[in-house]
Amino acid sequence: MVISAQIPVVAIDGPSASGKGTVATLVAQQLGFHVLDSGLLYRLLALMARQKKVGLDDVPALTMLATTLDAQFKQGQIVVNGVDVSEEVRSEATAAGASQVAAYPLVRLGLLQKQRDYRRSPGLVADGRDMGSTVFPDATLKTYLTASATERARRRYKQLIEKGMHANLSEILQDIEQRDARDARRSVAPLQKCSDAELLDSTSLTIDQVVAKIVMRYRNLDPRLVPSS
Ligand code: DC
Repeated sequence: MVISAQIPVVAIDGPSASGKGTVATLVAQQLGFHVLDSGLLYRLLALMARQKKVGLDDVPALTMLATTLDAQFKQGQIVVNGVDVSEEVRSEATAAGASQVAAYPLVRLGLLQKQRDYRRSPGLVADGRDMGSTVFPDATLKTYLTASATERARRRYKQLIEKGMHANLSEILQDIEQRDARDARRSVAPLQKCSDAELLDSTSLTIDQVVAKIVMRYRNLDPRLVPSS
């Protein structure tokens, strides 16, 4: 049996709309690793709370939902309790709910083991806010990916418009700034660059350049630091 600590983890943390999700998926493809989008778990929790009419301040009920969270991922579709939530989970309203529920330490604890269970052979690329600091403190490579708030708002706006969804640039920028502030000032696992993470500012980089930098950093690591499963 492979011991979990022997499985390499590439942790990519950073603020909303910094491109972590897309970058993590592409890095995972190039390395042949699994991928964990931890923000998706917080988003699903916020959605489930709404489905079940649980208040976003009802910590005991939210914690129960977190420990029993069961979503199915089918060919790009996300199904919760038989309902396809693939679109709703990406909406700005869901993101705002996710940021609220993510501020509760007990809720975070409820999702901790679920996230660690994604660490499977041959390796994992995990993206979020606290992958390097809390969920996988022994990650093999830690990157803090960021970009200016204006650039992140512009990217999110473009993404929504391309999907045919309604979008307003100044509202998105305001949402991003509010969410950054809430994620950064919460008492548990706040959004921050941990001391052993490398800062990567993507404001003037393309997705492919960011992916290439992370893959290169991983491949250039001292082999003695890379666990082999
Ligand atoms: O990455 P995202 O936009 O899908 O995340 C949605 C919210 O979930 C974000 O505002 C903060 C929270 N989150 C978190 O607190 N910790 C994580 N590891 C991932 C997301």
